[in-house]
Amino acid sequence: MRLEPLNRSANLGPVASPAVAVPRGYAGHGAPLVAIVGATGAVGVELLRCLERRRFPLSGLRLLASARSAGKTMEFRGAPVPVEELTEDSFRGVGLALFSAGSGISKHYAPIAAREGAIVVDNSSAFRMDADVPLVVPEINADALAGHRGIIANPNCAAIVVGVPLWPIHQVNPIARIIVATYQAASGAGAAAMAELVDSTRAHLEGRAFAPKVLPHPYAFNLFSHNTPIDPRTGYNGEESKVIAETRKIFGVPDLRVSATCVRVPVLRAHSAAVTIECGRAIAPDEVRAILAKAPGVKLVDDAARNHFPMPLDASGQDDVLVGRIRQDVSDPSGRSIALFLAGDQLLKGAALNAVQIAELVGAPAGRARA
Ligand SMILES: NC(=O)c1ccc[n+]([C@@H]2O[C@H](COP(=O)([O-])OP(=O)(O)OC[C@H]3O[C@@H](n4cnc5c(N)ncnc54)[C@H](OP(=O)(O)O)[C@@H]3O)[C@@H](O)[C@H]2O)c1
Repeated sequence: MRLEPLNRSANLGPVASPAVAVPRGYAGHGAPLVAIVGATGAVGVELLRCLERRRFPLSGLRLLASARSAGKTMEFRGAPVPVEELTEDSFRGVGLALFSAGSGISKHYAPIAAREGAIVVDNSSAFRMDADVPLVVPEINADALAGHRGIIANPNCAAIVVGVPLWPIHQVNPIARIIVATYQAASGAGAAAMAELVDSTRAHLEGRAFAPKVLPHPYAFNLFSHNTPIDPRTGYNGEESKVIAETRKIFGVPDLRVSATCVRVPVLRAHSAAVTIECGRAIAPDEVRAILAKAPGVKLVDDAARNHFPMPLDASGQDDVLVGRIRQDVSDPSGRSIALFLAGDQLLKGAALNAVQIAELVGAPAGRARA
């Protein structure tokens, strides 16, 4: 399945925004011209939808992708917007640039956009661990935005969906150790991986051979260790290393004890994770439920009677991270450890929604932003 933009022939150019409140903080202090780099991708499509449904104030929209997509159109607020080929001249007049086209593209073009005066929110891993680049989940560390120098990094999708429910627990009873095993969806690897899951499943059911093209192993009715390279020094793959390092940076705890096992599962959308945390003091499941019941960006789905717990199908299309299976970890007799299960839409909270929330915060007058 390819996430195709609407193929309309009409070309109305950048879309004028309806009369909405103008955010401050962008170049010129007006509603910014917004560019989406990678607009045709799995995350790009969701960026467009998030800007639309959150009524993000903008003076115009520039959709950028590869030469392959130039000439297509995508719909925004009921009007077709042309997709243009990304070039070094794409950022003239742009106040906000949302990047989701891979780290190579970000490394080259994000500094150009920032030099042109745009605030860049980057979904790739290009700048996440740079000391002078804030790595932000608004529910956790919105204050880190204060020091930005034009480029702001959106964290790894698994790190976001795991971090959102753990942070409020950490505020009450500091977490000393996190052990996480992820169950990651195809869409985390982009639109082409989603297509590969659908096509290989169809081929399997029809008894046809299917040679994987995007992912390294057969995906239909299978699962495999995350498709990022293993660091021979640590034995962790790239995704696991990101979850570990980025969680430490977002939480502001450089020596936080974190271990991760990241696995790709044959699910189209929304990442799940089994998480065990060890807190500084004893903590009961009911305390955790009470904390999470009022935590921003979290929805409790913990119905033991109906055996209804977080599922990626339920999480798909939802802004909140679903959390349940909250129980005492019986392997820790001290009573300080809790096990839980979560599912979060990594295209939304793990990518597009988080990026747009950041854009709202940097553009909004202090104290007026919504997370
Ligand atoms: N998928 C997720 O859940 C997720 C979550 C967090 C972060 N991210 C990050 O977000 C980024 C995009 O991921 P994705 O899943 O949306 O990937 P994707 O579906 O493969 O989309 C890639 C996008 O990049 C564009 N692109 C590729 N090469 C380009 C070039 N040379 N010049 C301009 N544009 C180019 C593509 O345009 P064409 O359509 O023209 O090829 C497409 O719009 C990656 O950095 C990824 O690590 C993804």
